[in-house]
Amino acid sequence: MLSVAHQTQLAHQHVAAALKARPEAKAARKAWKAFEARLNTHFPQLVKELAPLYGARPDFLDFLVDLLSKAFDAWNARPVDLQALDLQREKNPRWFQSQKMLGGVCYVDLYAGNLKGLQKQIPYFKELGLTYLHLMPLFKCPDGNSDGGYAVSSYREVNPALGKMEDLQNLAAALRAEGISLVLDFIFNHTSDEHAWATGAVAGDPQYADFYYLFPDRTLPDAYDKTVREIFPDQHPGAFSQLPDGRWVWTTFNSFQWDLNYSNPAVFTAMAGEMLAIANLGTEILRMDAVAFVWKRLGTVCENLPEAHTVIRAFSALVRIAAPSMLFKSEAIVHPDDVVKYISPEECQLSYNPLQMALLWNSLATREVNLLQQALEQRHNLDPDTSWVNYVRSHDDIGWTFADEDAIQLGIHGFAHRQFLNRFYVNRFEGSFARGVPFQDNPSTGDCRISGTCASLAGVEQGDPLAAARILLLHSVALSTGGMPLIYLGDEVGTPNDPSYLNDPTKAEDSRWVHRPARVASLYAQRHKKTTVPGQIYQGLRRMVEVRASLEEFAGGQLTGFRAGNPSVLGYLRGTPGAHVLVLASFSEQPQDCPAEVFSAQPASAVDLLTGQTRALLNGLTLGPYERLWLDCGAA
Ligand code: GLC
Ligand code: GLC
Repeated sequence: MLSVAHQTQLAHQHVAAALKARPEAKAARKAWKAFEARLNTHFPQLVKELAPLYGARPDFLDFLVDLLSKAFDAWNARPVDLQALDLQREKNPRWFQSQKMLGGVCYVDLYAGNLKGLQKQIPYFKELGLTYLHLMPLFKCPDGNSDGGYAVSSYREVNPALGKMEDLQNLAAALRAEGISLVLDFIFNHTSDEHAWATGAVAGDPQYADFYYLFPDRTLPDAYDKTVREIFPDQHPGAFSQLPDGRWVWTTFNSFQWDLNYSNPAVFTAMAGEMLAIANLGTEILRMDAVAFVWKRLGTVCENLPEAHTVIRAFSALVRIAAPSMLFKSEAIVHPDDVVKYISPEECQLSYNPLQMALLWNSLATREVNLLQQALEQRHNLDPDTSWVNYVRSHDDIGWTFADEDAIQLGIHGFAHRQFLNRFYVNRFEGSFARGVPFQDNPSTGDCRISGTCASLAGVEQGDPLAAARILLLHSVALSTGGMPLIYLGDEVGTPNDPSYLNDPTKAEDSRWVHRPARVASLYAQRHKKTTVPGQIYQGLRRMVEVRASLEEFAGGQLTGFRAGNPSVLGYLRGTPGAHVLVLASFSEQPQDCPAEVFSAQPASAVDLLTGQTRALLNGLTLGPYERLWLDCGAA
């Protein structure tokens, strides 16, 4: 029996020889050399990941040759400026840890009509300070309901309503020239039912027969449904949908989103090709959609299985070979123990931070920081080669994804507490400032999630005079805890809910559309007027962005908890001891005192970087309603 290392070496030799013999490699000698160097470095990692998935198959070597041929073709087609970026990023792999990084996210059509229109917004993005722009799904998708583009019919064609592939490439280059990294989705758990692979599978094309999970009857679907969670119970019960011919297909989300079958290596190879094509458009960060669901096994929840990680790490190893500057961002909205498992230099270097997001809203409702403080102290710090993406809300619903085990330590009962939060945010709780809408209310499990824009959930809609302060408070935390902050564009000027989705039959069933409003020009027009709510939010946010960008203390992701001695006041330190910023944030609309003793290791006074005012700490400190302080404790 050969050792794994020896087998890998033999496989490497075989693959390298097969690739080298190809006329393309001969014609492109320079490209081949650069490719070969990275292949030599990363081949063992790639095989380490792929072997447990497909290594038992007799055609494993052919599969590797095929996969890496595709990867070489992608590398050979990679624009020279991206190859230059590859080298640059390999020299500076922690580039994304800079305190100057700031993300924005928007829908192309809702924000700017189309791709050309979006390009015209670049001066505004620069004004705001963005260095990262996530454009929501923009590839070809079915007319009508496409889950906001999360049902892809072709990864090689832009949705014609948004423009052409060429427009996207131009936009990517224009953004890059301005120091803004383009972020696109890799929707790799499923395709739309209109994708050629899906129509091929239905038509009986043997090439696509095993691309999806198709079943002749309910036997296996019933068996799987025993253990699988319902993600969109409003759309269909269980995880399967029936086709007109009577068969059943796995559809974790909507019935038109068919889950891909990664136990078939042809699916891996096909999707790898699509992924590298998306990379070559100029995508610098790939948002790995719905990572939790990509592997299924009977008798399990079919979420977060070890093989799901293996699939992603295999994609990641391939990227290191053929598009090395691109990073992965994980979208895992699951238990916090499972969220972090996707984050590592070899898997997803970036990840949404759904726990922080949900707990921000939790603290706003309860006026207590207990769960958030605990999460920051116990779950925030990551490997320094990886980073959180901290956000206040996204295009999706807010789910209460904290760990019940964490909550019970604080005497909080998860189920009952979630019921309270749901009532609070849909305005079924007296005195609530929030105007949210329920999402996927599931009476059979008591589960429910929340839709709503940041402004509407924070009180703007009902004219609450403290709404702007709440919005700034939430963003203050997202900007200062460490990691990359991500703003949902429109929130920076307080855009409220848009109920017009109810008039569109393709959207009416999905309340997430309430928080996906089109860009409201009149709100943006007020952004420089301090007397207006949009102006207060925008100016306050800009100030935080500027201060953050100017201070090394905010680089990277590590923080140290700081107990402020008041249940409504969150606290943490950034930077190194002696040269740190002490961040405090009050989640109460009443003044809150922090006692003197908590500041015993701090200077007698410190300048608040946000206002320039000196605050005495010697005798304790009182924070005003929703006040946030970034206290410079370095030079005192
Ligand atoms: C992700 C997206 C969400 C979509 C789902 C299915 O979770 O964020 O909007 O519905 O994937 O693609
Ligand atoms: C579930 C999924 C998540 C998705 C969301 C959409 O929470 O875990 O991936 O974004 O549903 O509502």
